Amino acid sequence: MNKHDSERLTGLLLARGFALSSPENAEILIFNTCSVRRSAEEKFVGVLTYWRKKRANEKVLIGVGGCTAQKEGEKLIEMLPGIDFVFGPNDLSRVPELINNCLQGQRPQISIEGKSGVELFSLPRHREEKFKAWLSISSGCDNFCAYCIVPYVRGREKSRSIEEIVTEAYQLVKDGVVEITLLGQNVNSYGKDLYGQPRFGEILQAVERVPGLKRLRFTTSHPRDFSFDLIDIVKNSSVICPHFHLPLQSGSDRVLKLMNRGYTQKDYLELTQKIREEIPEASITTDIIVGFPGEKEEDFKETLKVVETVQFDQAFTFLYSPREGTKAAEMEDPIPQEEKKEWFLELVSLTKKTALERNKLLIGKVLPVLIDGESKKGQISGRTATNKVVNIVDDNFLEGCRGKIFEVKITAAFPYHLKGKIVFD
Ligand code: 5AD
Ligand code: SF4
Repeated sequence: MNKHDSERLTGLLLARGFALSSPENAEILIFNTCSVRRSAEEKFVGVLTYWRKKRANEKVLIGVGGCTAQKEGEKLIEMLPGIDFVFGPNDLSRVPELINNCLQGQRPQISIEGKSGVELFSLPRHREEKFKAWLSISSGCDNFCAYCIVPYVRGREKSRSIEEIVTEAYQLVKDGVVEITLLGQNVNSYGKDLYGQPRFGEILQAVERVPGLKRLRFTTSHPRDFSFDLIDIVKNSSVICPHFHLPLQSGSDRVLKLMNRGYTQKDYLELTQKIREEIPEASITTDIIVGFPGEKEEDFKETLKVVETVQFDQAFTFLYSPREGTKAAEMEDPIPQEEKKEWFLELVSLTKKTALERNKLLIGKVLPVLIDGESKKGQISGRTATNKVVNIVDDNFLEGCRGKIFEVKITAAFPYHLKGKIVFD
């Protein structure tokens, strides 16, 4: 979501006559922040401090946008002197005006009033990759999971109309895009605010029909709102990728209730089992939080049990991070951090094991891989439809292969990636 916001901001500024530069040479430095966990905010403070020092003797405008900017507003400038303008995630379209005001000597500029991100959807965007694109279907979130800051900083859920989404999809494909990822905090509730009922399935079916589109992805699903007919829609499609990102957060019913997630362990297991039965090759990935306030060892064991049962293809694991203003930040949290860290390590090692097991099942298979970059070792790499990274072990580098799909025979499996060889017939 943040990266897509950056694409929009860049697109808007380019359209207004600004140019992209390196942080060493730029006259304006803009930071797009994330506030979902404290570690993300700490990273931002570190990066900002580094650049402020490095460019201390030069005339540079510094702007800070995104969720931390929204959350802190004016306070950010008191905490981190040197910032010239601050804007929230729903205020992107005001940035050119903020910059102009700063250049005319009116500093600081603050804009955090934007209530909804819907009007930002039509902003121009600058994509780094020509062949893949994000497409926002909604903004904001109505769920108020007890730990989460997102609804406070991004506002209520607002869906974009089906017509607008489909028009954008056509335009993207016309521009050379072969892979679209539909974006929303909770894609499964898409349309509720606009049409009185969720209509996500319709969006998938309308976009998959766009001629020339090779891959359609979506993120993020909410297990509570996920309707079973989506499984059939994915199963019967050659374009929609069989990859389900279904954040579990916790396997314990007691913790799930405290988190306000709206489903039980049984609901989650039924859903994932149905996916495994209907589409055995599908990948299921997840997010899990360790150390939610009041979580006990027996709760944590329930999470481990779900991980063992579902055998996630990948899991993003996080230590709970209190976010001021959320319900969870007010809850008693007696478990020592040391114990939480031990649980965390145990969970990471289990998820690594299940990911490896799942990946090993692919050895010997030939899978279509969309080439999208290079591995750290300089090998070309790409992704399977199930979103797994494959590093290609061919010695002859393929000119112009980015954005193309090749048939790849999987030769080795690791927890976070696969290795393979292109099959030329
Ligand atoms: N602490 C830790 N993890 C969090 N997430 C969201 N809020 C918090 C928090 N306060 C995680 C959730 C979510 C992912 C994007 O970030 O797992 O799915
Ligand atoms: Fe946060 Fe929950 Fe909304 Fe996801 S669904 S953005 S975790 S409040």
